[in-house]
Amino acid sequence: MELLKLTVKPWSSCLLLGLLFIFAFLASLSHAEIHYHEFVIEARPVKRLCRTHSTVTVNGQFPGPTLQVRNGDTLVIRAINRARYNVTLHWHGVRQTRNPWADGPEYVTQCPIQPGRSYTYRFTIEDQEGTLWWHAHSRWLRATVYGALIVYPRMGSPYPFPMPKKEIPILIGEWWDRDPMDVLRQALFTGGAPNISDALTINGQPGDLYRCSSKETVRFPVEAGETILLRIINSAMNQEHFFGVANHKLTVVGVDTSYTKPFSTSVIMIAPGQTTNVLLTADQPPARYYMAAHAYNTANAAFDNTTTTAILEYKSAPFNGKKGKSRSSAPIFPILPGFNDTATATAFTARIKSLHQVQVPTVIDENLFFTVGLGLINCSNPNSPRCQGPNGTRFAASINNISFVFPRRNSLMQAYIQGQPGIFTTDFPPVPPIIFDYTGNVSRGLWQPRKRTKLYKLKFGSRVQIVFQDTSIVSVEDHPMHLHGHEFYVVGSGLGNFNPSTDTAKFNLIDPPRRNTIGTPPGGWVAVRFVAENPGIWLLHCHIDSHLTWGLAMAFLVENGVGKLQTVQPPPLDLPRC
Ligand code: C2O
Repeated sequence: MELLKLTVKPWSSCLLLGLLFIFAFLASLSHAEIHYHEFVIEARPVKRLCRTHSTVTVNGQFPGPTLQVRNGDTLVIRAINRARYNVTLHWHGVRQTRNPWADGPEYVTQCPIQPGRSYTYRFTIEDQEGTLWWHAHSRWLRATVYGALIVYPRMGSPYPFPMPKKEIPILIGEWWDRDPMDVLRQALFTGGAPNISDALTINGQPGDLYRCSSKETVRFPVEAGETILLRIINSAMNQEHFFGVANHKLTVVGVDTSYTKPFSTSVIMIAPGQTTNVLLTADQPPARYYMAAHAYNTANAAFDNTTTTAILEYKSAPFNGKKGKSRSSAPIFPILPGFNDTATATAFTARIKSLHQVQVPTVIDENLFFTVGLGLINCSNPNSPRCQGPNGTRFAASINNISFVFPRRNSLMQAYIQGQPGIFTTDFPPVPPIIFDYTGNVSRGLWQPRKRTKLYKLKFGSRVQIVFQDTSIVSVEDHPMHLHGHEFYVVGSGLGNFNPSTDTAKFNLIDPPRRNTIGTPPGGWVAVRFVAENPGIWLLHCHIDSHLTWGLAMAFLVENGVGKLQTVQPPPLDLPRC
């Protein structure tokens, strides 16, 4: 009764206030949209490099459809598997708060969608904007199953740079002149390195420098004087890339989902999994200019050294577009750095800073040191056709000497929620089992990792630092490390072995970029910090797919916190079973 009296008394003012609140709430929600899509995953004939392949696509498109949403919007995507392979889809860079069920890595957060089955991914973009992308997260299907996911600011909230006249997604990919799943199958059988790709692509097309490809070269018409936003995505399987546009400066304004302090450059380096937004002003004499990408190769290994191109075409260029007439002169070609130009690559990455000051954790609860790199598994019979790696071994890759094995009987998340034992353990080592000169001449006795399914437990809200240390085992290499379910601040990076006493002092805790993927420099280290505020099981892996295949992965189990808002959502009813 007392309570009733209290609430009834200030009745009128309360109602007014309440109504105001409701209106404000509705106004803030009114612009959030729900986007419904159907993604039919099925093989279609796709012709590239003179040959037609039965290629796994989404809705018959290669690359797949571009999703365009705003910050705050919800996506409901029904994935229908009409291909002959198991498949899952991943929304790369979407945080998926409390919602690992929509994240997608197979056997991690879900069992794969089997042929003939479907699964609906439902998720909301919460306080993220920028260029993201989506891709299959099932063996090597992402070679052809991928597309852009563009998150615009909320309605009425502007970019922190002049509004561009147009926006162009640029997806850099790799193409094999055979079924990528066969390339994978062969590598898994022999234990050797998978065949390198036969072409690089921009928006699915190799471009003028490849056989049978000129006619389809991607062309981007521009008006002289206008400024356009290029949303560059490295969706390639196994390679970092340099990218540039002839005679044009690029102004970097964003990476992944963070806006960055603008800086001007003639070339960018982009690793698989990363995105970079650049402004380009068409301020050159009206003509045709190539945009081009080729490999940034850091390993002592074979790589696809071809060059993919598209054409930036000024509408006022002489003879433009008139078929038959000589297309005046050939487009002008950009100068790209050499394949192994680590100086240019690291200098570029070091220039990327958050636009504003950011809140980086300064007190660290979990100080993790992860060695990342390749390894070799010894064979009892080195002459076996299954041991075609270096000196009769099989390739492997690991973090802290654990080569990650994906479970098969169930997904990690489902096993966790159901309390099913025997699928994983939570004793992933926070530091390597022994200390050695990681980037020096590593003794052969340390080259063989152990295959396990180990997770690392994080308390909800713990402040985490990870130093990724590349090793020189087999070869030093740039390993683009990608974390699901979180974004991290990249606070420092360097060559050689990380030295906690001298390097920590140099960390940028003011305006480091927030990213979902960052590479170790070859033979170097990179340090990241984040707060584990998203309960669930989240994969951390090298976004070079051959390395992921070999086990360069681990997963965090972020425990539930207190109450509903810190607890994993219940699984959707249509979640596939293994
Ligand atoms: Cu872009 Cu685990 O992936």
